[in-house]
Amino acid sequence: MRDLNEHTITAAVLDRFAETPDPRLKAVLDSLVRHLHGFVRDVEPTFDEWQQAIATLTRTGQTCTDTRQEFILLSDTLGVSMLVDAINHRMPQGATETTVLGPFHVADVPFSPLGADIGAGLAGERLFVEGSVASTEGRPLPGAVLEIWQSDDDGFYDVQRPELTAPSLRTRLRADERGRFHFWTIMPTAYPIPDDGPVGDMLAATKRHPWRPAHLHFMISAEGHEMLVTHIFVQGGPYLDSDAVFGVKESLIQDFTHEAPGHAPDGTDVAGPWRRLSYGFGLKPVRAAVMAAAD
Ligand code: BEZ
Ligand code: FE
Repeated sequence: MRDLNEHTITAAVLDRFAETPDPRLKAVLDSLVRHLHGFVRDVEPTFDEWQQAIATLTRTGQTCTDTRQEFILLSDTLGVSMLVDAINHRMPQGATETTVLGPFHVADVPFSPLGADIGAGLAGERLFVEGSVASTEGRPLPGAVLEIWQSDDDGFYDVQRPELTAPSLRTRLRADERGRFHFWTIMPTAYPIPDDGPVGDMLAATKRHPWRPAHLHFMISAEGHEMLVTHIFVQGGPYLDSDAVFGVKESLIQDFTHEAPGHAPDGTDVAGPWRRLSYGFGLKPVRAAVMAAAD
């Protein structure tokens, strides 16, 4: 195996992986080598361009911290995250569609009681959110756990504000015995993804904007069902057709209705105008996932 050239090197590299005992690892590496070599043949990079690519990937790694994951952001902005999501979530009728998790989820956030106001004291338009969690056949899922997080009126998540010492605009709720939930918050706003690193440089160099349309994040779990990771987007807001991370699905765009001052559904007396979102989430039974895998 000497004198390899541009026509013979791919087969030689594939051959070197021939004894890989784990068949999945072998399949992944074979595909990686074939596509990577195909990419290089297609682009024919100069040596300077190749070094620039290595430097960009190095900087992407160096930009990562405990609270910043630049590689996920790169995957998101190249549409890879949504492609992986689509492949892994071929959903049955009645299941709420999924979208990107994003970098701002925090695990083990304390529970709030139903009806809590997670936006109390914050600037922004008041929003009442109510809904239900059910299986795809419409059977309510009592005790389903909803993790909820969102941006503030300036477009920042609490984890982007180092001065905050407690969770803000995020909580966990447990649905009631009918699978229903409700809470108060403020309207989410559109916001730019972090664009002061290599991903931001890529967006700027390609004349792409970094904005995401306004949304609420939900991660919902219930026994016997697949975890649902999704957003609800605000109908009529900007960037719904140019989301920087390609996460918008028509079924997830909802009307956050404008309501007049007065009594809210939970009996709260609201002095000014407020907004209301009602949404029924559908979760895919684990059984359906197992059956689909066996097909
Ligand atoms: C988010 O929705 O929080 C998000 C998703 C992908 C990249 C950046 C932010
Ligand atoms: Fe978000």
